[in-house]
Amino acid sequence: MLEEIEELCERALTEIGSAPDSEALEGMRVRYLGRKSRLREIMSQIGSLPTAQRPALGQASGTAQKAIQQALERRQVALQEAAEVSSAIDVTLPGRRPLAGNLHPLMRLTEELVAIFQGMGFSIAEGPEIEDEYHNFDALNTPADHPARDLHDTFYLTDGRLLRTHTSTVQIRVMETNPPPVRIVSLGRCYRKDSVDATHHFAFHQIEGLYVDKKVSFADLKGTIEVMGRQLLGERTRVRFRPHFFPFTEPSVEYDFSCSICGGSNSACRVCKGTGWIEIAGAGMVDPAVFEAVGYDSERHTGFAFGMGIERVAMIRHGIDDIRLFLENDLRFMRQF
Ligand code: DAH
Repeated sequence: MLEEIEELCERALTEIGSAPDSEALEGMRVRYLGRKSRLREIMSQIGSLPTAQRPALGQASGTAQKAIQQALERRQVALQEAAEVSSAIDVTLPGRRPLAGNLHPLMRLTEELVAIFQGMGFSIAEGPEIEDEYHNFDALNTPADHPARDLHDTFYLTDGRLLRTHTSTVQIRVMETNPPPVRIVSLGRCYRKDSVDATHHFAFHQIEGLYVDKKVSFADLKGTIEVMGRQLLGERTRVRFRPHFFPFTEPSVEYDFSCSICGGSNSACRVCKGTGWIEIAGAGMVDPAVFEAVGYDSERHTGFAFGMGIERVAMIRHGIDDIRLFLENDLRFMRQF
């Protein structure tokens, strides 16, 4: 019987050592240590054997049981480790970065603009995107026969209201409800019935600025725009003002920033087209007709206003050549900012 135990143990250890998977291993556990196993049978018979044989057999079967138990455990661990290694990471692959969200480039620029103007003492004002003709046009000295009111430019709702075509509407709303002085910027979405191409979209963002007080002059406007230009595009940025026309300002200007991409030195520059200047926005001194519409006394107060497209500034800053990218939410584009 002693020999049988030894043989049995040896067979069990060899078999267990090469068990292909944990299912096979479980079969072996049942076969070698289970209630109906030969080893258990032997152990249950020991008590009925002659006393002299009992200790040796008891010890041998106990040792065999322990050895088999340990072999089973060792093999189980080995199988588990092998499974982990085979499904584990290929350490030669480049690591996967956790996905972190980031701000939309327009939102980032918006926050920057807000900080720049807050630094100059402007506060933030808001107005509705669904507007009436009065706030979008009439009060801004844009009478009913003005070409800007053409159906081609404006989205009208069936009730006669419209989607604001610019943030200048907020000037009116602020002045209607606040006596001078006012110093606000307003940022938000605007809509125009433009056909979509690389530089036009029917939905876009603007920032509008308005400063009204006693003795506000064109020099204040120039200084404000210059500070904005330097903070946005760098200390070396210069500003150029060109005469223009807007119904709500007199005199009116358009202003350009010197090209931050090529500095005017590259005749093939995509951003300034080799001119060295980038057209940014419109501005001017608030027209007395606008003050009249909101009940301000244009003899006592003067003011300047400006408005510009936020996409436009973002495009210039990052050298982006298609406005549509801002609305497509293509992660390959967005992740770059
Ligand atoms: N509202 C004008 C536009 O959308 C931009 C503008 C020009 C705003 C001159 C102003 C301004 O406040 O003074 O084209």
